[in-house]
Amino acid sequence: MSLVNRSCVTIDDLSNGEIEALFSLADKMSDSMNDQSRVCQGKIMASLFFEPSTRTRLSFEAAMLRLGGQVISAVDIGATSLAKGESIADMARVVGSYADIIVIRHPWEGAAKVVADYAGIPVINAGDGGHEHPTQALCDLYTIRKERQTIKGLKIALFGDLKYGRAVHSLTYALARFGAIILFPPSPGLEMPDNVLSKLTTEYKGKLIRLEAPNQEVKGRFFPLDAIYMTPSSSHQLAMLPDISIQIELKKAGIDTLYVIRLQKERHAPTVEGQNLERDYPVVDRKLLKEKEFKRTLVMHPLPRIDELAYELDADPRSMYFKQAAYGVPVRMALIALLLGAKEVMISKEEDSFVQKVDYPIYERDFGVRCLNSNCVSNQETEARYMRPDFRIISLEPLTLRCIYCEHELHPQYIASSDWHEGKLENKKYHSAESHWIRKIKPENLIIFGSENEAQARGFNPSKYVTVDR
Ligand code: NCD
Repeated sequence: MSLVNRSCVTIDDLSNGEIEALFSLADKMSDSMNDQSRVCQGKIMASLFFEPSTRTRLSFEAAMLRLGGQVISAVDIGATSLAKGESIADMARVVGSYADIIVIRHPWEGAAKVVADYAGIPVINAGDGGHEHPTQALCDLYTIRKERQTIKGLKIALFGDLKYGRAVHSLTYALARFGAIILFPPSPGLEMPDNVLSKLTTEYKGKLIRLEAPNQEVKGRFFPLDAIYMTPSSSHQLAMLPDISIQIELKKAGIDTLYVIRLQKERHAPTVEGQNLERDYPVVDRKLLKEKEFKRTLVMHPLPRIDELAYELDADPRSMYFKQAAYGVPVRMALIALLLGAKEVMISKEEDSFVQKVDYPIYERDFGVRCLNSNCVSNQETEARYMRPDFRIISLEPLTLRCIYCEHELHPQYIASSDWHEGKLENKKYHSAESHWIRKIKPENLIIFGSENEAQARGFNPSKYVTVDR
């Protein structure tokens, strides 16, 4: 497999072997920075940042300049034709004819995938709403690898706004794929979204253990944990223990990495709960790190920080966040060079250890069920003109769809068949998705509705299987 001409929209666009190869190239490049100045000579990177950014944009641009390439940029949506109502697809087609590679940050979830679908050149997702931020995850993994040589078996805690933090979503997938044990300290109201957790157990075949209510023996600001995720190779040691013993065991063994993020306020609805979230937000400071489970912990943060990470920790040798940011340049240099084909790494399928990507069937129809995430690119007026909401069918029983853009999951209630028996109108029926029809309708004929109204608007009538006794 080669990386040339591919895009990096989610962290799962890169296999484990490709990530390892990219890290070796980043090592080489940072050891010989001055020798890289002709690697991407004559190439242009379009840097499109439609949300605030310091590190990601500047490290991408610095990376391209260090490779000898040039940068064109747009950093304000209001200064582009998107503000006039242009679609992302049209913008992508046009920029694709000006540049050789695009880096995009956009507030809508799934926007980077649309750009990748239409640009005709490699596209890197620099953050799409609350969905993913794969290159931040690469910098994070690279930092942990540098400090600890391996990811496998490390106990890594993710602390803070796991709901809207796109960087922790990409990082979670990568950690799971490299065999880390992921710990979830309590974050009431800001827990990791179900669709992220569901991917851990379906795609990566690991085990998520939700832990029981607080227990006196392990009380603290960080313990007791809400849940832990274990990869198949690690699960046997801890999974056998009762909840309380898991907590004590983990506290005793210590935490390898504490990864903190800020409250992603810009993605929250302004409510009273929001004010409480701010008030109760975790703080990592000298006092917390005095606990013995943090004796050897790497303290990480993608930055920017607000109040969740005390400045008094900056000189502490456990603090990694400025190193993490500095690694952004060589890691992004390696990625740009690989996608542009200026450097090549070949990884044979056999030596690659990525858990095989599951090939779920795609559900695509011009009508019927829609993604329920209002921030999904497929739900925006400018994009609806050309875009159809498409889904991966993750399971039939229960019926579970995953939006191909934002990856939110939904469980639609109603189904019908496009093959309605010689086209007789009286046979045009819809059924409950929980009835036996879910197995009977051929996949190519399956129609899925989010509501009865939707079904009736298309001329379908309720069958006697529209409600199912449980
Ligand atoms: C992160 C982001 O933009 O998602 N920042 C970054 O890229 N370094 C995290 C954040 O903004 O909190």
